[in-house]
Amino acid sequence: MSSFDTIIRGGRIATASDTFSCDIGIKGGLVAALGYDLGQADEVIDAAGKWVLPGGIDSHVHISQPSGEGIVMADDFESGTRSAAFGGNTTIMPFCLQEKKQSLREALKLYHAKAEGECYVDVSFHLIVADPTEQVLGQELPALVADGYTSFKVFMTYEGLALSDREMLEVMSVARETRALVMVHAENDDAIRFLTDRLERAGKTAPSFHATSRPPIVEREATHRAISLAEIVDVPVMIVHVSNREAMEEIRRAQQKGLKVFGETCPQYLVLTEKDLDGLNMEGAKYVCSPPPRDNASQIACWEGLQQGVFSVFSSDHCPFRHDDPRGKLVPKGRTSFRWVPNGIPGVAARLPILFSEGVVKGRIDINRFVALTATNHAKMYGLYPRKGTIAVGSDADIAIWDPDVTQRLTHSLLRDGSDYTPYEGLEVTGWPVLTMVRGRVVVRNGRLEGQKGHGHHVARDRSAYA
Ligand code: URP
Ligand code: ZN
Ligand code: ZN
Repeated sequence: MSSFDTIIRGGRIATASDTFSCDIGIKGGLVAALGYDLGQADEVIDAAGKWVLPGGIDSHVHISQPSGEGIVMADDFESGTRSAAFGGNTTIMPFCLQEKKQSLREALKLYHAKAEGECYVDVSFHLIVADPTEQVLGQELPALVADGYTSFKVFMTYEGLALSDREMLEVMSVARETRALVMVHAENDDAIRFLTDRLERAGKTAPSFHATSRPPIVEREATHRAISLAEIVDVPVMIVHVSNREAMEEIRRAQQKGLKVFGETCPQYLVLTEKDLDGLNMEGAKYVCSPPPRDNASQIACWEGLQQGVFSVFSSDHCPFRHDDPRGKLVPKGRTSFRWVPNGIPGVAARLPILFSEGVVKGRIDINRFVALTATNHAKMYGLYPRKGTIAVGSDADIAIWDPDVTQRLTHSLLRDGSDYTPYEGLEVTGWPVLTMVRGRVVVRNGRLEGQKGHGHHVARDRSAYA
């Protein structure tokens, strides 16, 4: 009888802290041994010349989320988790959105029903708190945190989602009591609405004005306010999808004061700019997301945040809409004003190749920082470590094998999502995940889907290591 189900042989392993060469013995979905001459296995995977890394964890993903009348998100759980696997991810953390007047428990039931039996990689839901009633604050949230939904996102912008400062304080207080982690979308809603009205009155309605309506200062102000509110309550916060230096410096300053303030940035803030929103014929709608991509100086600032630890996680903020589709970016109202163009871009499969190529291959970060930013820190931040996010005896065998030498241009067909475009079309990347394994089972090998949907399951989480 074989000692292991699978042995990954001859690869170079990197974790967030170490780099070493050895074989990995996998049994029952777990890493069972790290060493040499591990003996027999049912399957031996040759990883010579390859990197063997913890599978990516993407802690900021939107799937099957209601997005306004007549608008449909391009990914369901099947296509979203498939795309995640093609991009070297083994766990994603989508949001369960509470709508106004809806119970959170009810919302969660619907999301579980959508995900059940559909997933290729593991999933774990965050909660979006849009209606913090007494019942939600006093009963539902504490019970849901106890059940393993240990993080919630709050919005400072978007109609129907934005919370007042008082409401943010209330949610943060529950997070403090229950040791949950609060994620904040920080943009000043009143300022955005004021600027949007003014732009529309001046006839400036093309997608490019989306960026004008949400300048860095609205993000900086809200970031400062979110941090201040968290300081009042004395609770850790994660400021998500940070796009520019001013917001990044707010986070750095808080960290230097000793506050538990964390930051996330995303690929769109490293390789896109607001110029991408300029295209004619609604081409610019492909890049409409919030906060919007900025300029080259902002890209440099985001790299600095990743290199210096101001940002601890690098996520995709995958929020896919089809472009050439009246239920997507070309929704009829969107042609009348950028205000109505669905916000969000796909990126779950492109996230890791972009950071590997632009970061590791170009020498901006080393391979260990890459692993920390794409897997380990997500696991620690959101209560999955050490079960996930590393390669260690006893951890889930969630592994991505990377060929560091492949160079190719990103194109939508490689990414296998439900959208009809990628905002990163044509970007040349070096390094590609050639095999993705979730709990010991190969899901993607050499560009072919081998996994079964339904193998991916929901994972209840512990409290954040930082809460
Ligand atoms: O434009 C974006 N980012 N859409 C997704 C929703 C969010 O704010 O994260
Ligand atoms: Zn957001
Ligand atoms: Zn998002």
